[in-house]
Amino acid sequence: MKLKPDMIPKKLARGNITVAVIGLGWMGLPLACLFAEAGAKVLGADKNQKLVDKLNRGESPFEEPKLGQLIAKHVSSGKLKSLNNVENAASGSEVIIITVPTLVDNQKQADYSILESACKELGKGLIPGALVILMSTVAPNVVEKIVKPILEKHSGLITGEDFGLAYSPIRAMSGRALKDIQEYKKIVGGFDDASLKAASAVLSTIAKSGIIRTSNLKTAEASKLFETIYRDLNIALANELALYCERAEIDYYEAMKAANTQPYSHLHRPGIGVGGHCLPLYPYMLQTEAQSVGLKLKLIKDARRINDEMPKHVARLAASGLRQVGRSLTRAKVTILGISYRANAKETRYSPTIELIEALKRRGSKVKVYDPKFIFAEIKTMGYESEATIETVLKDAECIILTVGHDEFKELDSLKLASLSAKGCVVVDAAGILKPKEIEKTGMIYRGVGRGVWTK
Ligand SMILES: NC(=O)c1ccc[n+]([C@@H]2O[C@H](COP(=O)([O-])OP(=O)(O)OC[C@H]3O[C@@H](n4cnc5c(N)ncnc54)[C@H](O)[C@@H]3O)[C@@H](O)[C@H]2O)c1
Repeated sequence: MKLKPDMIPKKLARGNITVAVIGLGWMGLPLACLFAEAGAKVLGADKNQKLVDKLNRGESPFEEPKLGQLIAKHVSSGKLKSLNNVENAASGSEVIIITVPTLVDNQKQADYSILESACKELGKGLIPGALVILMSTVAPNVVEKIVKPILEKHSGLITGEDFGLAYSPIRAMSGRALKDIQEYKKIVGGFDDASLKAASAVLSTIAKSGIIRTSNLKTAEASKLFETIYRDLNIALANELALYCERAEIDYYEAMKAANTQPYSHLHRPGIGVGGHCLPLYPYMLQTEAQSVGLKLKLIKDARRINDEMPKHVARLAASGLRQVGRSLTRAKVTILGISYRANAKETRYSPTIELIEALKRRGSKVKVYDPKFIFAEIKTMGYESEATIETVLKDAECIILTVGHDEFKELDSLKLASLSAKGCVVVDAAGILKPKEIEKTGMIYRGVGRGVWTK
């Protein structure tokens, strides 16, 4: 490899290294901006021409804290240029970072077809001496078995001899991507020692907390799946215990807080399920890989099922509250507060609330959606009924379902909810942020995940 690891940070800071970032989405764009900020020349490549045009005008395609300013700054300084041709971006770069989507198909099998086609294009442009770092989330062995052969076939180059190859997962969440990418340690695995050292040196230019070098590629690949599966399983555990608490008339939150005073107990919060681009997909990626070595991952499958069933459970809580006041979900005016998949994020990918809305509509409810992270027109574009303000969207609601703990919702006042909504309105709190007693004091009916009927 041409790049000498100890020279990389200085060369990059002086603008003498060009970094290509393939896939300018929620993760690729923050990475591209951080490399530009570190001094590199950055060539972004994305097959979406509209996105490329927008970026080259210095505009951000989505809302991510501080991203807009960085894009504007580095487009105007000439450090960040975008194009819609992966081959051209690769042929002009010494370092190529891949951040294209990795998915699961309808059969819940890992689907790397986008990665494969990006690698094909990248291979055609790969120059001798370059370093390729895959950062998309993949299961163990994907770099060795999928990425490496495609790059070699389309470049005519040999890994380790002609170019370097490494893997480093993105450990970030949308809504705080720039911060997470810089602050969490970078886990890096290399095809060989030279690739590992070069990739570590490149990533050290944007990482504030250091690098963890793994002994091989597959350990780095596994680490990303493990940290997300850990969360998915813990949320499933919280959800299952919450369901038990509802039946047993125990307040899950009270029990959770008490249990977590023991240092080995880290019970999570239950809720409407799990969304976003990562947690609902990654367990299946590992499952696909485990099947290939003859192993069934039972716990992972159960956790996915438990989390996936939570939107239906929230609909059942709403139905039970409405029954108490002689109403049913059919024709009920239901206002959903929160469409984001996660508190304080403006993102709806795989949001379990979408599943809830579908379930309610199937039962004949008249559903309106409000989320302070989105403007009214954005929610309408998603195909949902909405209103411009929380006051108007709550007016005459017979059931209010709070799905996510946005800060704005933490300030909701029970008296205000009661005065705006219909008499005997049912409030279902899936986020565990409202005070059941205060809701019931106003004459509204309370239901909550992990609390069920408030009988205390
Ligand atoms: N979004 C997250 O919160 C998050 C967090 C950690 C890791 N990841 C992982 O990072 C990777 C990227 O995720 P994302 O959320 O940024 O995806 P995204 O969907 O936001 O963006 C991906 C971009 O890649 C582009 N693209 C698709 N095919 C392409 C091709 N052949 N050539 C060039 N560009 C192409 C798309 O047009 C899109 O702009 C995935 O593997 C994901 O699992 C995502």
